[in-house]
Amino acid sequence: MIRRVLCYLGLMLTAGLLIAADYSLPAAYWDAPRAKNQSGAMHNWSDLEQNLRPEACAQCHYEQFDAWKGSLHAQAYSNGMVGQFPTIGHTSGNRCLSCHAPLQEQAYTDAEDMMASLQLKLTHPEAVDADADLERMADIPLRHTGVSCAVCHVRDFQRYGPPRAGSSKTGHIKTDVHGGFRASRDFEQSNFCASCHQFPQRRAINGKPLENTVREWEQSSFASKGITCQACHMPFRRHLFRGIHDPETVRKGVSIKAWRNADGMAEIEIHSTGVGHAFPTYVTPRVVVKASALDHHGKPLKTWAWDIVREVEYRQQWVELRDTRIMPGEKRRYQVDAPPPGTSSVHFTVQVIPDYFYRGLYQRLLQQQPDELSKKLLQAAKKHTHETEFTLFEQTVRL
Ligand code: HEC
Ligand code: HEC
Ligand code: HEC
Ligand code: HEC
Ligand code: HEC
Repeated sequence: MIRRVLCYLGLMLTAGLLIAADYSLPAAYWDAPRAKNQSGAMHNWSDLEQNLRPEACAQCHYEQFDAWKGSLHAQAYSNGMVGQFPTIGHTSGNRCLSCHAPLQEQAYTDAEDMMASLQLKLTHPEAVDADADLERMADIPLRHTGVSCAVCHVRDFQRYGPPRAGSSKTGHIKTDVHGGFRASRDFEQSNFCASCHQFPQRRAINGKPLENTVREWEQSSFASKGITCQACHMPFRRHLFRGIHDPETVRKGVSIKAWRNADGMAEIEIHSTGVGHAFPTYVTPRVVVKASALDHHGKPLKTWAWDIVREVEYRQQWVELRDTRIMPGEKRRYQVDAPPPGTSSVHFTVQVIPDYFYRGLYQRLLQQQPDELSKKLLQAAKKHTHETEFTLFEQTVRL
């Protein structure tokens, strides 16, 4: 009997070890990543298997393509970013590309290469073909596709991905196409997003790096419950990557109510129930809570405004002016005190301005009289920052 129990334990231990021996992504996965191999070709593969454009992947992975093409990852080679490049030059531009289009195949070779790419961006603003037509995009460089499929999934032509749905098998998996793939659980971890969504602690401003999303998540209850970035931003592995630019996503993340309290005053509460990090996580959006006291004709008598923001400014170095963001699980109340006589109701709105910081930045850059090309790109980017603004919540409270 004892021997049988020991035997059992032994078996379980071996099984445990086998499961624990997961296949990890190469340590240099995000280090100057290169999607092709040294020779730049796989001689026994079809043209389609060698093609790194997202439209090529779409021929067999249409679902992922269809979701990704609407995400900001597909727009990461943006007007607002490249409009700054003629001024800062292609070497600095390449540093920006290390997150916005990080493959070696996407980098600028020289200033001329960069200027040609910017001209093309003006005449061909679309980076991908929505119908996944390969021919139509053949002349557009891969860098225009930003954070595209190959950025996350291809190194040395090898495909890397999560274990097949419902399977725990990791390591090399054979298939008929593109030499199979390498399955790793690393794809299911929040850390997978860190190389672009988390700055190192040594670059902290007031104790917190400019981008601190992964640390904020680690400190939230979502981390201890195993609810990863992917669980919220790629539900059921769908490549949606929706965030503050999507009203529905924001509505699902916070619950808001407004009411007349026991003292007869109007109050609004924002409860962060489903945001896995600070709301908002970056220094660029701004959420504005507004209240206006109205008389019985609906005429405004007084207004109040509160900003939900981490405001930073560049003065030789970055300084934090204030941080009023709402942390995961936190309930924040704003109360209208001393409404003027004659107030019959209070109207609340919550406005989301996802690109608040950039709007001001583009305005300042345009005032510095940039070259013609930058001007066109930055004007388009500035216009876009107005289009992304939306009202999250609106309610009138009678007093
Ligand atoms: C000719 C069809 C075809 C093309 C083109 C193609 N793939 Fe695949 N891909 C497959 C097949 C088939 C599998 C294996 C699926 C399986 O057996 O579970 C696969 C598997 C994968 C996986 C692993 C999926 C998982 O479960 O983890 C990834 C990631 C992947 N491909 C990415 C890409 C990318 C990125 C591109 C474009 C650069 C691409 N593929 C182009 C057919 C294709
Ligand atoms: C920002 C990184 C990123 C980009 C860009 C990206 N993926 Fe993925 N992909 C992932 C992650 C992470 C997973 C695993 C998600 C999970 O397990 O929750 C995944 C999973 C997959 C899978 C397995 C899906 C399944 O249901 O098992 C395929 C196939 C795939 N991606 C193909 C693509 C294709 C094709 C594109 C481009 C249209 C693309 N990916 C763009 C990160 C990315
Ligand atoms: C290679 C760098 C890179 C990786 C890896 C990456 N991202 Fe991103 N992500 C970006 C960039 C750059 C943007 C901004 C795109 C733009 O608007 O120009 C972005 C934007 C987003 C947005 C949209 C934010 C908004 O303002 O609405 C979400 C959500 C997001 N990423 C989630 C993820 C998740 C989840 C992962 C991991 C599975 C991930 N990203 C991995 C670079 C990356
Ligand atoms: C460490 C990764 C990283 C680097 C390096 C980086 N960015 Fe970004 N950038 C991001 C992420 C992530 C977002 C999305 C955050 C958000 O929605 O505010 C973003 C958003 C932006 C946006 C607003 C969205 C858009 O694309 O229009 C601009 C403009 C921008 N970055 C410009 C730059 C410039 C210029 C540089 C180089 C000086 C640069 N970035 C370097 C990660 C990076
Ligand atoms: C519990 C769900 C949840 C988890 C987990 C989560 N997010 Fe989010 N995320 C949201 C919601 C909801 C929003 C929209 C509200 C907002 O912007 O804060 C959002 C917004 C964003 C944005 C938009 C920019 C901004 O300033 O808010 C980015 C980028 C982002 N998430 C990245 C990540 C990354 C990276 C992780 C993992 C470290 C992650 N998220 C984990 C729910 C989640």
